[in-house]
Amino acid sequence: MRKLATLVALQLLMVGALLAQTNLMQNTYNRAKTTLNGKWNVIIDPYDNGSYSYRLDRFDEMSRSPRSAYYMDAKAKDKTDRMEYDFDIAETLMVPGSWNMQNDKYYWYEGSMWYRRLFTYDKEADGNQVFVRFEGANYHTHVYLNGKKLGQHIGGFTPFEFNITDKLRAGNNSLVVVVNNMRHRDGVPTINTDWFNYGGLTRDVFLYEVPAKHIADYTIQLKKGSTKEIGVEIATKGLKAGEKVQLRIPELKVEKAFAVDANGKVSTSVKVKKINYWSPKNPKLYNVELLAGNDQLNDKIGFRTIAVDGSKILLNGEQIFLKGISIHEENPVRGDRAFSIDDARTMLGWAKELGCNFVRLAHYPHNENMVRLADELGIMVWEENPVYWTISWENEATYQNAQNQLAEVMTRDKNRASVIVWSMANETPPGEARDKFLKRLVAFTRSHDNTRLLSAAMEKHKDKTNKKIMIVDDPFAQYVDLLSFNEYIGWYTGKPTSCEKIQWKIKYDMPVVISEFGGGALAGFHGDETTQWTEEYQAAIYREQLKMLSKIPQWAGATPWILSDFRSPRRPLGKIQDGYNRKGLISETGEKKKAFFILQGFYNNKQR
Ligand code: GCU
Repeated sequence: MRKLATLVALQLLMVGALLAQTNLMQNTYNRAKTTLNGKWNVIIDPYDNGSYSYRLDRFDEMSRSPRSAYYMDAKAKDKTDRMEYDFDIAETLMVPGSWNMQNDKYYWYEGSMWYRRLFTYDKEADGNQVFVRFEGANYHTHVYLNGKKLGQHIGGFTPFEFNITDKLRAGNNSLVVVVNNMRHRDGVPTINTDWFNYGGLTRDVFLYEVPAKHIADYTIQLKKGSTKEIGVEIATKGLKAGEKVQLRIPELKVEKAFAVDANGKVSTSVKVKKINYWSPKNPKLYNVELLAGNDQLNDKIGFRTIAVDGSKILLNGEQIFLKGISIHEENPVRGDRAFSIDDARTMLGWAKELGCNFVRLAHYPHNENMVRLADELGIMVWEENPVYWTISWENEATYQNAQNQLAEVMTRDKNRASVIVWSMANETPPGEARDKFLKRLVAFTRSHDNTRLLSAAMEKHKDKTNKKIMIVDDPFAQYVDLLSFNEYIGWYTGKPTSCEKIQWKIKYDMPVVISEFGGGALAGFHGDETTQWTEEYQAAIYREQLKMLSKIPQWAGATPWILSDFRSPRRPLGKIQDGYNRKGLISETGEKKKAFFILQGFYNNKQR
């Protein structure tokens, strides 16, 4: 029992150490950067030999003679010196990018991969602070600079950063990172998912520098329930109580200086006469300037309200129908994790072409380019925490991990007008432990952001006596704002023609968003509407689903599954799936299937 208690304490300690990571710097997107993208030397390490203690069965940095630990990036002193690794002559991988897609021998690899990047850096001014930031790395990452541990991060889809000011040295600095993408029963997500387990430094890595006195964090958004009062929460570093931080929003004639408190913070609001509200039809973004000391940080922020009223979703007080599509973070044509603004333009360009005003970024936080571009294009966004399927609901470290990942994406995206929904989970089986876990996440989320809508992709179930009646009564629904659920009538349940006879019994008077419906088709495979995997079969599902859903009085939106075919180890059917989930409306070669045009036609004709 004692051993278990020690293990739990260790896990909590580890996750606790991670919580410090949620004080992420706000809006590094618009700061000057020194990119570390490009070729990194790598050493594959399935036995964690680079840090592993051969006496213990766990990751242990200090039990090896330090020079033999890969994070020391040591070299043989002379020909008599025995060293068994050398980054300088090791293979290279491109960063960002998964290792799986860069070398066939790594395609199925799940384990540790060591990365090493040398860089020189000269600070612009004494007293400035220098950070290294990772926009994402899947799944468990430890970071070292010049042989010293900077810290670690758990979670494959949220940013993390470390202050390296005091660890920089003249000449070459050795940045060593070990990323382990093994799936864990107690992980978030857990071991089973319907997506490919891309491993590695899958997003941008860069350095940035801020003055000793700088803007660390801010939330500048309309206050809940207000259309003219902008909440202003600013956190600075290095300023003494009474020193000023300036806020300028020129087009709103806001130019104010606020005195920070003893903690360097400002919590206030500004009232404005007239705002050009952000919406899909008018994605207005205001230039916002923040100045503290000699730090100036610029942002582009849209102002809008989002609320529910009974079964209606109100954007800026007007009812709106969410014409959406679900998206995985995978550029199917490039065939790897999406990370760049070009990838975002491809994916959101297809969504716009489909007639969407909304996207569900499934099943985990996507890279920041997606939400920044959605702001510009006027596409509303559902962001999702990777609490997917059968999570270890009773494990406190699992909860802390889930909460930490949610905190990180909320910190990163809280000023994005496009983000209207925080989703707690996807397809999690109702039960006491699960309900408790998700209710804690809701309380945490609302305590940090009371302006956005909360939801989760819940499930339906069949009436016990009449299989034509589908019931939606997940008890968790009463704690969120949108009643969203996945249903696959016509694919996993019945045939496309089954849709017509289905009756929906929905327990709550809330806006209903169908977070997933759809079916698989191999692009270019044609036949009649009864033949599985044909484009015609998939098109029939969409046609019949849209007719069925239009009969639901509270129907307020949909994000059908899914924009494009994506890799999944759970989809092996030869000649049809070949390792791809084929529910995409677009194939991995960019080919639009018939169902794309069915949905496009529906959205283009759908008013409110
Ligand atoms: C589920 C799940 C998706 C999955 C889909 C499918 O609804 O949420 O992640 O890919 O079904 O079976 O294709």
